Amino acid sequence: MSAEVSSPAESVLSVRDLTVRFATRRGVATVVDDVSWEVAAGETLAIVGESGSGKSVSALAVMGLLPTPPARVQGQVWLEGSDLLQASPQERRRTRGRRLGMVFQDPMTSLNPFLTIGKQVSEGVEHHLGLHGSELRDRAVELLGLVGIPAPADRLDEHPHQFSGGMRQRVMIAIALACEPQVLIADEATTALDVTTQAQIIELLGRLQEDMGMAVVWITHDLGVVAGIADRVSVMYAGQVVEEAPVDALYADPRHPYTQGLLGALPVIGGHGRELATISGLPPDPLQMPPGCRFWPRCTRRLDARCEHEPPTMWEVGPGHRVRTFYDTAREGSR
Ligand SMILES: Nc1ncnc2c1ncn2[C@@H]1O[C@H](COP(=O)(O)OP(=O)(O)O)[C@@H](O)[C@H]1O
Ligand SMILES: [Mg+2]
Repeated sequence: MSAEVSSPAESVLSVRDLTVRFATRRGVATVVDDVSWEVAAGETLAIVGESGSGKSVSALAVMGLLPTPPARVQGQVWLEGSDLLQASPQERRRTRGRRLGMVFQDPMTSLNPFLTIGKQVSEGVEHHLGLHGSELRDRAVELLGLVGIPAPADRLDEHPHQFSGGMRQRVMIAIALACEPQVLIADEATTALDVTTQAQIIELLGRLQEDMGMAVVWITHDLGVVAGIADRVSVMYAGQVVEEAPVDALYADPRHPYTQGLLGALPVIGGHGRELATISGLPPDPLQMPPGCRFWPRCTRRLDARCEHEPPTMWEVGPGHRVRTFYDTAREGSR
């Protein structure tokens, strides 16, 4: 799958064969299994999949933020020619915040309730770029302004509880952007927000990305927001990438039955509310993965014993479009 792939010149961050296992009381759970993806400067890669598919764990592994043990991380994480998984803890700390920024899933638990917003926004700048005094304060004001917080100078001395959910999420983005990282990983960055704030933040990130040439990895369980923001999409199921494609190809011609199900489960525009036709069944227990295709127990299009017993590998179905199936679901039609 990956042996022939070297780190492509134009990709700024390249994840290769990333595997994360957790030692648990019930045994070893492989929650991220041989995951590969890459993202280029100025590009947005969306990683989508149901809750529990391994999106956050893989992002935390890339950031070097998983405690080991209980986690065991294998693979390669190339950031411009160096493999972060081989880097020293000091080097990783230097990279984090400086070259790789991350917006975490929950802004309330990720902000320190006891520190002022100004302190939290300026910490990274102070640490990584060595700014102090009024210069540091100016940069904090600039950052809060950048993410659309009104009258930012007046709000530096306030605490997180004085900010609304949307404003806290903006603060999280300001912190992640503080040192102008080459790559921003946004994990469910807008999931907790109302639709209007969500749209504003997506618009803001798009603008910042254009200005800064940043690569963005947009992690979400909501395929609905992906169409408007991503260049490419990587679909995860039960710890594996099951389909990857340029965004238009994914929507026009999804090939994995899971992706087809996810798209079928999208609310219809102009329909009555968000009625979701969900994919029936549950994802497998990471401690008891099916030996064959992991989606087999839920798949409406499984064909024979091969799907049940043999794990499918990724194959190319179009330019940049790869899928983990045995059969060509396009040519098979809807049998
Ligand atoms: N510290 C941990 N120990 C054991 N299992 C974990 C730990 N953290 C996460 N997991 C498991 O890893 C899987 C993937 O979780 P996660 O990456 O958070 O999913 P997602 O972000 O896609 O919703 C889940 O089954 C979760 O229970
Ligand atoms: Mg998550």
